[in-house]
Amino acid sequence: MRSFVVGGAGFIGSHLVDRLVERGPVTVYDDLSVGKPAFIGAHLASGRATLVEGDALDLPRLTAALRDHDVIFHLAANPEARWGLERTRLDLEQGTIATYNALEAARVNGVKKFVFSSSGTVYGNVAEACGEGDLGSLPISLYGASKFAGEAMIAAFVECFGLEGYICRFGNVVGPRGTHGAILDFCMKLKATPGRLEVLGDGRQAKPYLHVTDCTAGLLFVLDHATGERPATYNLAPPDSTSVKRIAELCVAQSPNPSAQIEYGTTPQGWPGDVPRSLVKPDKLAKLGFRVRHSSDDAVRLAVAEVAREVFGG
Ligand SMILES: NC(=O)c1ccc[n+]([C@@H]2O[C@H](COP(=O)([O-])OP(=O)(O)OC[C@H]3O[C@@H](n4cnc5c(N)ncnc54)[C@H](O)[C@@H]3O)[C@@H](O)[C@H]2O)c1
Repeated sequence: MRSFVVGGAGFIGSHLVDRLVERGPVTVYDDLSVGKPAFIGAHLASGRATLVEGDALDLPRLTAALRDHDVIFHLAANPEARWGLERTRLDLEQGTIATYNALEAARVNGVKKFVFSSSGTVYGNVAEACGEGDLGSLPISLYGASKFAGEAMIAAFVECFGLEGYICRFGNVVGPRGTHGAILDFCMKLKATPGRLEVLGDGRQAKPYLHVTDCTAGLLFVLDHATGERPATYNLAPPDSTSVKRIAELCVAQSPNPSAQIEYGTTPQGWPGDVPRSLVKPDKLAKLGFRVRHSSDDAVRLAVAEVAREVFGG
């Protein structure tokens, strides 16, 4: 299997490349805006992966690089939903247009299999557990809107051009080599200011956290086992959730100063567009035979230890 990973030098992408090299040669296409060649350094050195430095917004370059592959994983996106508040074109470009470009490059090259990293943000601000069909409430962030648009575009390319689309809606993904997210944020803050930790929002926000090893296992499972549906769409997350307060406490406990004070904000949301409480139903993927190995709480506990080692050393 010749795999092509747009955004493959980033957090999830580099873990996916760890798995894909077992199946055949891998091309990573990444502009290195966030990702690092070091994340895939061993595979580059062994020749099992090749890095093409390029922008997903450069359609001719992307199209040329994608020639002679069997499957494209599209993972490049704006990494931080909050940034859309300051640059309102960011998610349109890095989400919607970049996804169109990846689809168009696949169409031109006759690459049939297209795997997309979507997100639970497509369900909008809904506190009840959402199954894949529960799209009645629209996304509330520009990031979520761009994922929603990307999914719609995949459905259209599947129908009009015979692509095989695989859409996975991730929970919040955590683990080593993180490039963003609450755990890394908290550990970095505690490194800079060991005595206190400022938390955005009142700490009662709660979301499903997915360990990155479960994320990559789920992506490959969907590629191997999804049948019939066009496009095949799955929630990829544990059924439970973990509060921001719990994450903050675990990060403080693992930091060099375990008696650091945690200072919470007063709002239920961390920022405008943040969904304060969310849950998803992973039943559809479970029926197909896949369950995540880590609950949300387990994934967080494990990831806090992994990220703390990276940030604080030891
Ligand atoms: N991490 C999460 O919690 C989470 C949750 C749901 C969905 N997702 C989605 O999964 C995907 C991967 O997320 P991640 O956490 O690994 O993020 P990441 O930022 O670590 O990885 C994205 C990679 O894409 C690259 N990139 C960004 N813009 C690019 C462009 N225009 N052209 C080429 N490369 C570009 C970056 O350099 C980076 O290596 C994203 O689409 C993200 O929206 C992530």
